[in-house]
Amino acid sequence: MVKALVLYHSQQYGNTKKMAEAVAEGLRSEGCEVTFHNANDERYPIKDYPQHDCVALGTPDYFSYLAGTIKTFMDDWYIHRNEAGYQGKPYAVFYSHGGGGRARSALTIFSRIGTQVGTPVESSGAPSAKTLDECRALGVGLAKASKK
Ligand SMILES: Cc1cc2nc3c(=O)[nH]c(=O)nc-3n(C[C@H](O)[C@H](O)[C@H](O)COP(=O)(O)O)c2cc1C
Repeated sequence: MVKALVLYHSQQYGNTKKMAEAVAEGLRSEGCEVTFHNANDERYPIKDYPQHDCVALGTPDYFSYLAGTIKTFMDDWYIHRNEAGYQGKPYAVFYSHGGGGRARSALTIFSRIGTQVGTPVESSGAPSAKTLDECRALGVGLAKASKK
């Protein structure tokens, strides 16, 4: 069974969390086991990262950049990157913003961790039904790209 990590930050309105839930639905619909982690609640335990076959990463736009907790995940990943199980995972990205959305150019930081599946799904404010469908499709695509 493919083990997927959905790692995101959501804090103010739950916009990014709703997107994360839809990505997780897509992953589960393809039979993945999903670990669902809001980095705003607790720092992601980086030692658990190698257990996963793929990762979906979500962040709100904070000052035209990633949320600090997701940047911290990348810092932690970098420190461990040469250990077994840290390199080369399929990954997918989603993000929410308040109308600016300039964080989209910062999302290229994730290219370090592996091979991107699809293109980042974006939401301006609360995700619409169409955006949530795009998130579900992103999860399905990530699952299909990760099947062993
Ligand atoms: C500290 C902070 C900084 C923000 N900076 C930006 C920004 O630079 N550009 C933008 O479009 N939205 C910005 N926003 C709006 C959030 O990205 C947006 O409301 C997002 O959907 C919140 O996600 P959440 O409900 O999952 O926490 C900011 C919000 C906060 C709290």
